[in-house]
This record gives sequence, structure tokens and C-alpha cells, in this order.
Amino acid sequence: MTMPTPLPPAPNRSHFNNWISAIGAVVAVGAMFSFALLAWMDFTQGDKNPYLGIFTWIVSPAFLLAGLGLVAFGWWAQRRWSIVHAETKPDKWRLNFADPRQRVRLALFGCGALGFVLISAFGSYQTYHIAESNSFCGEVCHQAMNPEFVTYKRGAHARVDCVQCHVGSGAEWFIKAKINGTHQLIAYTFDNYKRPIETPLKNLRPAKDTCEKCHWPEKFHGNTEIEYNHFLSDKKNTPYTVRMLMHVNKSSPGSPLGGIHWHTSDTVKVEYYATDQKRQDIPWTRVTNLKDGTSQVFRTAAFKGEPPADQIRTMDCMDCHNRPAHHFPTANEAVEGAMASGALSLKLPNIKRVAVQAMTESKITAAAEAPQKIADFIRSKYKDPALAPEIPGAIAAVQQIFAATIFPERKADWRVYPNNIGHKDWAGCFRCHDDKHKSAAGQPVRSSDCNSCHTILSQGKGADLDLLSAKGLAFKHPDGEPDAELSCVDCHNGGIQK
Ligand code: HEC
Ligand code: HEC
Ligand code: HEC
Ligand code: HEC
Ligand code: HEC
Ligand code: HEC
Repeated sequence: MTMPTPLPPAPNRSHFNNWISAIGAVVAVGAMFSFALLAWMDFTQGDKNPYLGIFTWIVSPAFLLAGLGLVAFGWWAQRRWSIVHAETKPDKWRLNFADPRQRVRLALFGCGALGFVLISAFGSYQTYHIAESNSFCGEVCHQAMNPEFVTYKRGAHARVDCVQCHVGSGAEWFIKAKINGTHQLIAYTFDNYKRPIETPLKNLRPAKDTCEKCHWPEKFHGNTEIEYNHFLSDKKNTPYTVRMLMHVNKSSPGSPLGGIHWHTSDTVKVEYYATDQKRQDIPWTRVTNLKDGTSQVFRTAAFKGEPPADQIRTMDCMDCHNRPAHHFPTANEAVEGAMASGALSLKLPNIKRVAVQAMTESKITAAAEAPQKIADFIRSKYKDPALAPEIPGAIAAVQQIFAATIFPERKADWRVYPNNIGHKDWAGCFRCHDDKHKSAAGQPVRSSDCNSCHTILSQGKGADLDLLSAKGLAFKHPDGEPDAELSCVDCHNGGIQK
């Protein structure tokens, strides 16, 4: 009697051999390929492109993990199937080169896989260019960054890339920006970023590494003329212009009065301590002469004691120029700008006042409701049919001013983003130059009288402006001389003056 021949042992083949794992492997290889390319671009070019890191370190690893996950899942599924269906058809998803029908599919699959890897390489290259562009910074995160993008586009730095100020060059900050950029993307994705985005930005590089790469600090000299075109909020919208020379020079040793850029000259260090997060309340400031090491402290009478050493900040460009690219003009300033440029006609009586009020007093809480509320507000102020032809133009102009300067969803406007460059609408220079900061000997901070930072060449309207004074005029306040005890910001708040 012959023994029945035993069944051949089940082929000891890997459970990895299946279609699901094969697809997973292709995804993983493509992701690895992109990752390698992106990482290379990131290391060689990344300082120009902080957001590239998001793709390099988050998106492509995520694909890699997904691919590997699929490989593992295929193994698990194939294994289970082969146990459950051991007797009938254990190799449901097996790749079998011996099977001619499968060979065709495999060839197609191979071509597809190659194509996929090539596309992921091309995709990485495209990703690099997209992440690099200003529109990526400003537009992809549209809602989050829109206020900065809009204000940036009309500033002097509209052609300077975001990353030139926000990242600069060098490995250390590059990595910081990368971590920060990633963090921001996550916050944006989960919609839990702060509104308004809090300033001062903590991760901003010192001006030495950004601003001073283009602006040569030794090269400040002379005076710069600035013209301010105001309109009073009276019936006639009376123009009121101030032309002044700003003393933007740095003091040279021995000059009787230094200029504004003295604060950042290389012979002095000006430090200060602010009690609030926005750096608006400064009770203490110290000047150190870097040549002989002597220093002098100026403080307000109310501030006793010493500031915490780790909260003393050395002044740089950004302590005055904190809005070099994103100036949010006050409603008052924006309306005056439109009147001066002709965008808002002066024909309607009181339009200056009405326009500012329409922007600030019609309780707008979302950008979408602004056009209607502004239109209603303006219409309600002009009942006279003779004025009717002027109304639509005025409404359109004010709607446009609002859209470009006030961003309700992001809670971004001049009220949360003070500009420290002057002293009329925000405390600015008067945070220190207010005659209230005194040295131990009782001397106030120098240069707090009206002619030390600027001289007024002419002011007023019409023929007043033909007379120029080289010596500088005393400021004639349009609303009568305010009480000397009051600071400009006690009345000027960006809306209608109290
Ligand atoms: C000339 C330099 C410069 C350029 C160019 C620039 N920024 Fe800024 N940006 C700054 C400074 C300075 C601040 C910080 C203000 C502060 O800390 O008070 C800032 C602040 C910001 C803030 C914080 C919110 C705010 O309004 O202060 C965002 C968001 C921002 N910038 C985005 C951008 C984007 C997007 C671009 C490009 C479209 C860009 N920036 C271009 C200098 C610049
Ligand atoms: C990549 C070069 C570059 C960098 C970086 C840069 N700027 Fe400028 N900045 C310019 C140029 C160019 C202009 C002149 C633009 C013009 O006149 O239209 C300018 C103009 C200015 C002006 C005059 C503004 C005006 O309205 O006329 C100020 C103030 C200024 N920059 C401050 C800064 C500060 C502060 C920083 C750092 C946060 C900075 N800049 C960074 C290139 C740069
Ligand atoms: C953090 C405090 C602080 C702020 C803010 C500040 N300054 Fe000063 N500034 C000083 C101190 C301190 C001195 C030196 C005073 C002294 O030695 O008596 C000074 C001196 C000056 C001088 C005279 C320089 C010289 O060589 O004599 C000018 C001009 C000046 N500041 C203009 C400005 C302008 C303009 C602004 C606003 C854009 C401003 N400062 C903002 C602290 C400040
Ligand atoms: C104490 C405040 C203060 C500091 C600090 C300061 N600036 Fe200025 N800067 C001013 C004022 C005020 C003006 C003139 C008014 C204006 O341009 O709005 C000015 C004007 C300028 C201008 C235009 C000059 C021109 O000729 O029109 C540039 C560029 C500039 N600053 C760059 C810088 C840079 C770069 C730094 C840092 C090295 C710096 N500023 C530091 C207050 C300051
Ligand atoms: C510490 C320097 C400093 C002192 C002191 C100072 N100013 Fe100014 N002032 C500035 C700067 C800086 C600007 C605006 C620069 C800008 O807008 O770019 C300015 C702007 C102005 C403007 C034009 C503002 C506008 O919107 O029309 C007037 C008016 C003015 N100052 C009046 C005065 C008067 C009056 C005094 C004396 C009580 C005075 N300033 C003292 C630095 C100073
Ligand atoms: C007591 C309150 C008060 C104080 C303090 C004050 N102003 Fe005014 N200011 C007014 C009023 C009210 C008007 C008239 C507003 C109008 O007609 O639109 C005005 C108008 C102006 C205007 C022209 C119109 C405009 O809307 O900008 C300028 C420029 C101005 N002030 C500058 C200053 C400066 C600079 C200081 C500080 C040195 C100052 N003011 C302090 C109340 C004040």
C-alpha cells in the first residue's frame, strides 16, 4: 500500500507581498523622494523661504507615515485573510508574476509608480516656489494675514519680501522662523490664532540683522521734509496743512543739537523699561555713553525702584519704526488722505466729520456688513435733495477707506497697532520726551521742546502756505491753544477729537 503523497508545505511567502502594501510603498518612496529634495532646498535656500519648512518637516513626513501605514495595513489584512481563508483562497491580494493577467497590471502599476515619484519631485520644486512668494505669506493665510498684506502693499517696503524683515539670513534665526512658521500654520489650521495678532512680535530679529542690511546707519544726515494735509471737521472741511523739516540726522560729536537718529548711533546705547506689553508706558530710560561708560537714568516721579534687569530693552530702529511695512492709519488720517488725493470729494459739507464717524461710530463688527452700515450712516446725515448726486461717490470712497484700513474679523486697526514714530495719535516719542522723565539731578530728557525734533516751515491754508520760515514757526493749533499740561493723545484718538 502506498502512502498518499503529503500536500506540499504552504509556500512560506511574506504577507508583505500584496497590492495594498505595494501602493503604500510607492507613496512612501515618493514622499521620501520629495522629503530628500525639499530638505536639500530647505538647507541651501531656506533662509529665503521660512514656510518651506512646513512642507519639508510636516507635509512630506505625513505622507511618508501614511505610506508606511498602508504597507503595514496591507500586511495585516493579507495575514488575516490567509488565516481565515487558509483552505480556500489564502492569496487574495498577492502579487503574482507568474500570472500573465497580473503581469500586465503590474507593468501598468510600475509605470504609474514611476510617474508618481516624478510628479512628487516636480511637486516639491513647485512647492518651493509657492512657499517662497509673498503671496504665500500674505494670501494663502488670507484672513489671518490680510491686514498686514494690504498695509504692506501700500508702504515704502512693498517690494521688500516679507522674509527680509521677518527672517533675515543665518542659521539660528532661520530655525527659529521655521519653528515659528510651523507653529503659525498649526494655529491657523485649527483657527486658534490670536485676534489681533499680538505685538510687539517676540521673534522679530534685531534691526541690525534686517533693517541695517539695507539702510546704512552711518548715512543719516540733514533734514527731511514731510507735509501733512489735514482737514478740519467743520462745515467747510477747511484744509489745514503743516509742512515741517524732520531733523533725521545723527548728532556728530560737538554739534549743539543732535538729531533723531542719535538714539541708534554707535557711541550711545539708549535703554528703556516698559510696564505694559505694548511698550507704550515707559517710566524709565537710561542713556549710556559707550565711549566712557558713564550713564544717566531718566524716570517719572511715580516710578520708584529698579526695573527688572531682564525686561530692559535696548532701543533699535523698531522702537520708533515699529510699523515700517504695516502702518494702520487712524480713521482721521485715512479720511484726510482720501480728501487730499481727491478720492473723497470735499463738496459735501461736514464730510470729514461724517466720514470718520461712519467708520468709527456705526458699530461694524464684520467686514461684510460695513458697506451697508456706512451707506446708511452717510445717507442719514444728508437729507437735502440738492446734495443727492454727491452721496454715492462719498459712500463708495468711505467704503473703500474702511476696507483698506479696518479689519474687524482680525480686530486689526490703529487702535491695537500703535505707530511710535510721532506723538499726535499715539504716545510715540512723548513716551520719553514729555518733560516728566527726569534725571537724578532733576533734568528732563533733552529735546522735548517743539523745535528740537522738527521745525515747522509753514502751516495753515491758502496764502499762509506761501510763507516759509527757515527758523521754524511756533505750532498754531487749529482748535486754539490746548492746555500745556495736556498731551496730544489726551484729545487725539484717531476718531473725532473730543
Ligand atoms: C520692512 C520690514 C517688513 C516687511 C517687508 C514685512 N514686515 Fe511684517 N512686520 C514688520 C515689523 C517691524 C513688525 C512688528 C511690529 C511690532 O512688533 O510691533 C511686523 C509685524 C507683522 C505681523 C504681526 C501683526 C502686526 O500687524 O504687527 C504680521 C502678521 C506680519 N508682519 C506679516 C507680514 C507679511 C505677510 C509680510 C509680507 C507680505 C510682511 N509682514 C512684510 C516688518 C516688516
Ligand atoms: C531689502 C532692503 C530693505 C530692508 C530689509 C528694509 N528697508 Fe526700509 N527701505 C528700503 C527701500 C528701498 C526704501 C525706499 C523706498 C522708497 O523710497 O520708495 C526704504 C524706505 C524706508 C523708510 C522711509 C519710509 C518712507 O515712507 O519713505 C523707512 C523709515 C525705512 N525704510 C525703515 C526700515 C526699517 C525700520 C526696516 C527694518 C524693519 C527696514 N526699513 C528694512 C529697503 C529696505
Ligand atoms: C525710550 C525713550 C525714548 C523714546 C521713545 C524716544 N527718545 Fe529721543 N531721547 C531719549 C533720551 C534718553 C535722549 C537723551 C536725553 C538727554 O541726554 O538729555 C533722547 C534724545 C533725543 C534727541 C536729541 C539727540 C541729541 O543728540 O541731543 C532727539 C532729537 C530725539 N531724542 C528725538 C526723538 C524722537 C523724534 C523720538 C520719537 C520718534 C524719540 N526721540 C523717542 C529717549 C527716547
Ligand atoms: C528715536 C526714534 C528713531 C529711531 C530709533 C530710528 N528712527 Fe529712523 N526716523 C525717525 C523719524 C522720526 C524719522 C522721520 C519721520 C518719518 O520718516 O516718518 C525717521 C526717518 C527714517 C528714514 C527716512 C529718512 C529720510 O531721509 O527720509 C529711514 C530710512 C530711517 N528712519 C531708518 C531708520 C533705521 C534703519 C533705524 C535703525 C538704525 C532708525 N531709522 C532708527 C525716528 C527713528
Ligand atoms: C522728541 C521729538 C519731538 C518733539 C519734542 C516734538 N515733536 Fe512733533 N513730531 C515729531 C515726530 C517724529 C513727528 C511725526 C513724524 C511722522 O509723522 O512721520 C512729529 C509730528 C508733529 C506734527 C505733525 C503731526 C500731524 O499729523 O500733523 C505736529 C503738528 C507736531 N509734531 C507738533 C509738535 C509740537 C507742537 C511740539 C511741542 C509741544 C512737538 N511737535 C514736539 C517729533 C517731535
Ligand atoms: C484739548 C484737546 C487737544 C489737544 C491737547 C491737542 N489737540 Fe489737536 N486738535 C484738537 C481739536 C478739537 C482739533 C480740531 C479737530 C477737527 O477740526 O477735526 C484738533 C486739530 C488738530 C490738527 C488738525 C486736524 C487733525 O484732525 O489732525 C492737528 C495737526 C493737531 N490738532 C495737532 C495737535 C498736536 C501736535 C498736539 C500736541 C502737541 C495737539 N493737537 C493737541 C484737540 C486737541
